[in-house]
Amino acid sequence: MAGKKIIGIDLGTTNSVVAVYEGGEPAVIANTQGSRLTPSVVGFQNDGTRVVGRLAKNQAVQNPKNTVFSIKRFMGRRHNEVAEQEKMVPYEVVGSPDDPVKVKINENEYTAPEISAMVLRFIKEYCEEYLGEAVSDAVITVPAYFNDAQRQATKDAGVIAGLNVRRIVNEPTAAALSYGLTNKKDGIIAVFDLGGGTFDVSILEISQEGEEQVFEVRATNGDTRLGGDDFDELLIHHVADEFQQQHDIDLRKDLMALQRLKEACEKAKCELSSTVSTSINLPFISQGADKNAIHLNTNVTRAKFEQLLDPMLRRLFEPCRQCLKDADMKPEQIAEVILVGGSTRIPKIQEVCEEIFRKKPSKQLNPDEVVALGAAVQGHILADPQNASITFLDVTPLSLGIEVEGGLMAVLIDRNTTIPCQRKEAFTTASDSQTMVDVCVYQGERKIAKDNRKLGNFRLDGIPPARRGIPQIEVSFDIDANGILDVAAKDLATANRQHITVESSSGISKQEIQNMKDEAEKHASDDDSRKVAIEVRNDAEQLAYRAEDMLRDNGDKITSEQKQSAEKAIAELRSKFDKEVSDIQAAHRDLEKVLSEIASSMYAKAQAAHETETEAPEPEEVEVVDVEVVDAEVTDAEVIDAEVIDVEGDEGEAEPDSQN
Ligand SMILES: Nc1ncnc2c1ncn2[C@@H]1O[C@H](COP(=O)(O)OP(=O)(O)OP(=O)(O)O)[C@@H](O)[C@H]1O
Ligand SMILES: [Mg+2]
Repeated sequence: MAGKKIIGIDLGTTNSVVAVYEGGEPAVIANTQGSRLTPSVVGFQNDGTRVVGRLAKNQAVQNPKNTVFSIKRFMGRRHNEVAEQEKMVPYEVVGSPDDPVKVKINENEYTAPEISAMVLRFIKEYCEEYLGEAVSDAVITVPAYFNDAQRQATKDAGVIAGLNVRRIVNEPTAAALSYGLTNKKDGIIAVFDLGGGTFDVSILEISQEGEEQVFEVRATNGDTRLGGDDFDELLIHHVADEFQQQHDIDLRKDLMALQRLKEACEKAKCELSSTVSTSINLPFISQGADKNAIHLNTNVTRAKFEQLLDPMLRRLFEPCRQCLKDADMKPEQIAEVILVGGSTRIPKIQEVCEEIFRKKPSKQLNPDEVVALGAAVQGHILADPQNASITFLDVTPLSLGIEVEGGLMAVLIDRNTTIPCQRKEAFTTASDSQTMVDVCVYQGERKIAKDNRKLGNFRLDGIPPARRGIPQIEVSFDIDANGILDVAAKDLATANRQHITVESSSGISKQEIQNMKDEAEKHASDDDSRKVAIEVRNDAEQLAYRAEDMLRDNGDKITSEQKQSAEKAIAELRSKFDKEVSDIQAAHRDLEKVLSEIASSMYAKAQAAHETETEAPEPEEVEVVDVEVVDAEVTDAEVIDAEVIDVEGDEGEAEPDSQN
């Protein structure tokens, strides 16, 4: 039996996509605005309301400082690692150099996982609406080249959003999975994924072993700081420089103008994928010294864009070359190259890809959706493992090691090792009676440990005093199926597990994550209360209108006392519109009670009239007044919706319809 549904989320730099496995195949779920792509953007409005997706993107020009986009570029990064990225965004990035990056909005500070969690929660909610059931479990994808801290941060984001993150999957692997299911061919494939913020390349082997389809990643490589955002930036600087030369005004200094320019440049970039020249027109972009408006009108050609792009294109070669080398493959051995990510629509990028792999890349998959579809397949495998005839063998993208004498990096787990995996290493003391050892763990490919990403310090203490070199402490490094590292240590002499201090590589402790989750839930419940209040007020307003209509239309059929008491109840309800929800609800119930009494008496009168009539004329008009009858004792959930049929001498049809 399949378990509950596990959704697959592609949490992208620019756009996020979610899919679910239904009816034997994965399908993308559209958001409440009907769009299959949700911009990964969070907007903070002045009244404390938060908006996510398209609405947030729409407010970016008006409110650039409070609109957070491309947060994925900050995931799992310390402040001192993001100097370049920081310059590209209008919102304020804060935090001490060694701490995880934070974004400051209206005096509040948010970590990158908290912002991502807002996007994830939005996605979770619209999935729940679509599926009609609660969603708790998800598979989330990350660039294959994400390091431990970035993966951990993504997992943290899921937890803060109230999701049970069942698996972190590499984006190219997810894409290959989706490809493999539709093309049941064996062979070696390369996935070339260039999105909004990251570049990934993976080489995989797809094979059939009996009933089982096996996906084995041979090697992966990439650049987590290269994507469509950078290409936009090239055009922004080009146009802004040109404008500055003409008008001596730097548009980059005006946040609102810059945001408009950014949007126009992204649009122009996309247009240049299908035309050879396009124009950028931004009226009233600035003001001259004479206070006259200055408009921006310029033309960009594909040739110019490609020239600007050239240095970045070069950065695509090395990861691909290294990936082929690590997989021990020649380009000729790759049967198919699959394009993933919106930026692979750029013709020049397709040319580079062709030059590297010496064959035309395949464009048969939708580059925006294929990752989410693969994640949904992975979700299905986890939900229903017995029926899944797929085996996945992924790899860790970066080497893992420790700092040893001379500051060198001693590698324990090589990059491209199949995960999950475990390695053990014995450590000892450097001086007599030493009772603790500090071990520094790094991830990366540089020879000097400090040039790599430090994941944490592991301190082994409580070692019984002994001569140097005698204690044997075994440290084990475990990489789980998510590519996330766990560390344990054991004193071999005493077989005691040593106390070790593991600082989470994302830099956020479990307690902090819990606090962020509580905060997010509180905000969600504040949002819910706001929603409920709006609905209650709306319902009350509608009832008041309906009641007024009813009084007007049936003025001749009710007594003046009934009319007065209804009018009083309506006025009472209207006076509560700006009061507490419970006050509105009480007045709502009172009015419903009055209306239901009037309805009953009207019905009784109609029935009596009907009984005394011998020959009933044809009914002139049957008017339905929708009155909700409430028994004062019952709760809202038990409201009976009674329709009173107003009959004038009608025959036989006067039965009140009292089902719900
Ligand atoms: N026709 C096009 N031509 C050029 N670029 C395009 C085109 N369509 C989309 N893009 C660019 O693709 C990028 C978005 O791609 P995608 O949605 O795959 O990225 P993402 O998944 O959000 O990012 P990542 O995978 O890096 O985290 C944006 O920079 C967008 O401008
Ligand atoms: Mg992507």
